[in-house]
Amino acid sequence: MSFPADRAATWFVTGTSRGLGLELVTQLLDRGDNVAATTRSTERLLSALGDRVDTSRLLPLAVDLRDEEAVRQGVAHTTARFGQLDVVVNNAGYGFLAAVEETSDRDVRDMLDVQVVGVWNVLRAALPILREQRSGHIVNVSSILGLTAVPGWALYCAGKFALEGLSEALAAEVADFGVKVTIVEPGYFRTDFLTTDSLALPTSATDAYPAVREMTSQHLNLQGSQLGDPVRGARAIIDQVVSGGGPLRQLLGSDAHSYASAKVDALRENVDATARTAPGTDFPAA
Ligand SMILES: NC(=O)c1ccc[n+]([C@@H]2O[C@H](COP(=O)([O-])OP(=O)(O)OC[C@H]3O[C@@H](n4cnc5c(N)ncnc54)[C@H](OP(=O)(O)O)[C@@H]3O)[C@@H](O)[C@H]2O)c1
Repeated sequence: MSFPADRAATWFVTGTSRGLGLELVTQLLDRGDNVAATTRSTERLLSALGDRVDTSRLLPLAVDLRDEEAVRQGVAHTTARFGQLDVVVNNAGYGFLAAVEETSDRDVRDMLDVQVVGVWNVLRAALPILREQRSGHIVNVSSILGLTAVPGWALYCAGKFALEGLSEALAAEVADFGVKVTIVEPGYFRTDFLTTDSLALPTSATDAYPAVREMTSQHLNLQGSQLGDPVRGARAIIDQVVSGGGPLRQLLGSDAHSYASAKVDALRENVDATARTAPGTDFPAA
């Protein structure tokens, strides 16, 4: 088991001034763990934490996750301050709701910069440390939309599907070093995710996709009534890391679980439907 039992653990968490990241930081500090928390605004993070938690074990880090050198320095500050690094949580992310043809080149690059390039920057900085100490845990916060895709969410799904592929390969690559990987797949959680502060929209939309516009207003109206409780969500993530166990994919929420089950059924049906034709492209046996 790679989680330290005899000392405070050190966590590096990205995207922490709101939502799940903020809740993770709060609960980790309450546990007495050390937390390096990256954010685009340390003021927003500190004011969100207020005086509800002891921040003496907090290292707030203003980091642009797209900047490899800034991320490398953030990880270096973490080990300099706490002496070790045990758990990395790639949590930062945002939603984008538009039809594929309404999604600009800039929109695509911005999303992938945060959800893929940023995560890769963190991994490149953290992995040598975890690998050399032969212990550690990487938690990549994906989404149920990293497993199944729905209209209007193509760009977000593209980012999360990429994160899932990266994470699945990584898990197999680092297992022999004693480093564990968990992919977290939340359903709808009552964070700021569906507010206009977080959810990005296209700069220009066509009137050809009324269903996407309808989906946008439904999602904005969903704010405040999502099924998932971020307090329970953060606790579930922490519990799985502390126990050192759990499957590769950690589904959070009954909505996520039913979407995942439907995806597995559809995939099974698709795989079965090609069972006879797929081998048809093999070279004939010699
Ligand atoms: N809530 C849901 O329904 C839901 C469902 C599935 C998956 N998720 C995933 O869960 C994670 C946390 O989201 P949340 O629900 O807590 O949403 P949130 O309340 O909107 O918080 C998102 C966090 O991500 C960071 N972030 C947002 N846009 C960013 C950008 N352009 N560059 C860098 N950081 C950015 C923010 O960090 P700073 O402002 O501090 O920099 C913020 O603290 C995300 O990866 C999200 O995709 C959420």
